[in-house]
Amino acid sequence: MLWLLLLQVSASCLWLGHSEVVTSFEKCPQFFYEETPPNEALTPQNAAWICQRYNNQYHFATLYDKSMRIPVYSAYIYQPGPLPSNESWFVEPQLITLPNNMKTEDFLEHNYTIGPQQIGQNQAISEDYTNLNELVPGHLCPSGHQNTDDSKSATFTLTNAVPMNRTLSNNAWEFYENQMMAEKMESCTTTYVIKGAVPGNSSIANGRVNVPSHIWLAACCQTSTTTKAWAFIAEENHVQLLTLKELEAELSQLYGRGNVSLFYRDCAC
Ligand SMILES: *[C@@H]1O[C@H](CO)[C@@H](O)[C@H](O)[C@H]1NC(C)=O
Ligand SMILES: *[C@@H]1O[C@H](CO)[C@@H](O)[C@H](O)[C@H]1NC(C)=O
Ligand SMILES: *[C@@H]1O[C@H](CO)[C@@H](O)[C@H](O)[C@H]1NC(C)=O
Ligand SMILES: *[C@@H]1O[C@H](CO)[C@@H](O)[C@H](O)[C@H]1NC(C)=O
Ligand SMILES: *[C@@H]1O[C@H](CO)[C@@H](O)[C@H](O)[C@H]1NC(C)=O
Repeated sequence: MLWLLLLQVSASCLWLGHSEVVTSFEKCPQFFYEETPPNEALTPQNAAWICQRYNNQYHFATLYDKSMRIPVYSAYIYQPGPLPSNESWFVEPQLITLPNNMKTEDFLEHNYTIGPQQIGQNQAISEDYTNLNELVPGHLCPSGHQNTDDSKSATFTLTNAVPMNRTLSNNAWEFYENQMMAEKMESCTTTYVIKGAVPGNSSIANGRVNVPSHIWLAACCQTSTTTKAWAFIAEENHVQLLTLKELEAELSQLYGRGNVSLFYRDCAC
């Protein structure tokens, strides 16, 4: 009887094979402060929970909106390092029920004989980002906030990108993301970051990919004795430094799905 049961269990595991349909971040809770992701108030209707896997390792986590074809947020541990040289973008095989290591479109097209249309059903593809003048694919988990070759490469996945104004990306935001973050995190031992994008009223690629109205970032840091938090939000080319509470209040209003809570106990323990 027992061996039959075991056989059944292992058979069903085999049958599940590689396609993982998940509704949580249970495989990568380590990217969230106290292993606690933000509450439901940020979850869109057509969501995917992606533990971003590259070279058989998890590097960060992304809540993805399959209808808007942009991430809601990426969550990661801040470990700044030099910028990588030119990299190619990946897509997410999980969203077409293939194994979960991120791959290039070329790889999927050649090794699984599927086309851009199939790949692009639930996610943005490179073609969506071509022929744009002012918009570039902007990282939610930035490669400059990661310090190994693999974790930097892993940020170049389109499920971690949103159409972002080139001017904002190159100027104001960069100042906050680089200098301000470095200043703020002095004396932090571990800093957990959640960076997100609020869907806007315009889109690119014939309506396929939403252009966010706001980009935001919240950080929760542990020092040897306490915790502290800070946040920024950008609208058009204007960036503001906020408290965590202020950001949560603004996001609750912008998303309109209830009170947003980004960190376990508001990062206050
Ligand atoms: C890499 O650099 C080349 C030459 O500058 C450019 O044509 C190409 O688009 C870049 N690739 C990526 C993925 O940025
Ligand atoms: C197809 O898969 C093989 C084995 O993983 C890999 O070496 C090759 O580069 C892939 N093809 C493309 C076009 O990426
Ligand atoms: C990007 O920012 C520039 C500078 O503020 C602005 O002129 C331009 O309209 C913006 N582009 C888009 C597509 O929002
Ligand atoms: C988008 O449209 C809604 C409804 O018309 C409006 O309330 C909101 O302010 C607009 N958002 C932006 C960023 O323009
Ligand atoms: C949301 O927060 C506000 C202000 O703190 C509070 O008055 C309200 O009861 C909260 N709503 C819910 C649904 O928790």
